Amino acid sequence: MPNSSSSDKASNDRALRFYQDVLGLERLHYGLWDGGDELTMEGLKKAQQRYEDLLISSVPEGSERVLDVGCGTGEMCRNLRASGFQIEGLSPDRNQKRAFAQKLNAPFHHTKFEEFEPEEGRYDCIIMSESAQYIPMERLFATARKGLRPEGHLMVCDYFVTDRDAGILSKSGHDHDEFLRQAAAADFAIVERRDITAETARTLDMGKLLADRILLGVDIMTERFRTRNKLCYAVLKWMLRKKIAKAQNQLPLLDSTRFCEAKRYEFFLFKALRPAASATSEPTEEKLGAA
Ligand SMILES: C[S@@+](CC[C@H](N)C(=O)[O-])C[C@H]1O[C@@H](n2cnc3c(N)ncnc32)[C@H](O)[C@@H]1O
Repeated sequence: MPNSSSSDKASNDRALRFYQDVLGLERLHYGLWDGGDELTMEGLKKAQQRYEDLLISSVPEGSERVLDVGCGTGEMCRNLRASGFQIEGLSPDRNQKRAFAQKLNAPFHHTKFEEFEPEEGRYDCIIMSESAQYIPMERLFATARKGLRPEGHLMVCDYFVTDRDAGILSKSGHDHDEFLRQAAAADFAIVERRDITAETARTLDMGKLLADRILLGVDIMTERFRTRNKLCYAVLKWMLRKKIAKAQNQLPLLDSTRFCEAKRYEFFLFKALRPAASATSEPTEEKLGAA
């Protein structure tokens, strides 16, 4: 059983509600920036669209039934369906369940992927756009294998930890090498991969810009209170000291240079090998594919 706090977080993710309800973002993933994009909300939306286009255009030919795991607000599902796929969404988050239902009339599985019981061989392609990091690796590959038809595809686009000693930066994302090791052990072969760390990292520069603006706004709005109620302000600051320290400790998460040093954002397209094929394949070369 998941502990109640992680379960509650997955079922009502406030950070994601902030992106959607406060920032007006329909897509909850990083953007794929190019040199010409401006560091603005419009630039971010354009970069996110480019990221989504990469995923949709990479769904292998011949795929019909597609499952979007951790489907966020259902935006990519809507566009996958417009491209002709039979789409299903999955998310443990109740706000996303509602958003999905408002956007499209399609099957939605309200559960964590690791607790999902898919019909055997139902899907041609399973997509995990920045959701793999939340799913325990062993369950991720076992459940995907069950849900995919033989030689079906698993698409994973996410960031992974490459430096395990980078403090708070090492805490989110699966370990890169261990993820590939477990993929190979579960008989998934890499058929395509692309390192997009540099193109996605700019999303953090945008995040930092937004955070600085929000802090400036709070500073301006509280200026009068702070100067007129010095004692009260000092007490309040003391009471909130743990929250303030926590927020300060999280600032490195918005540092794009440190992100590039400690993490790798990578696109993977895996193929579920048939058991007979996997038995004859070379365990490392064949299953891990070319770097
Ligand atoms: C960063 S958002 C990405 C959303 C969407 N895929 C996108 O690219 O915009 C992470 C998504 O993973 C979902 N998620 C979190 N834990 C999950 C789990 N255990 N199983 C499946 N999805 C999960 C969240 O609810 C959310 O939809």
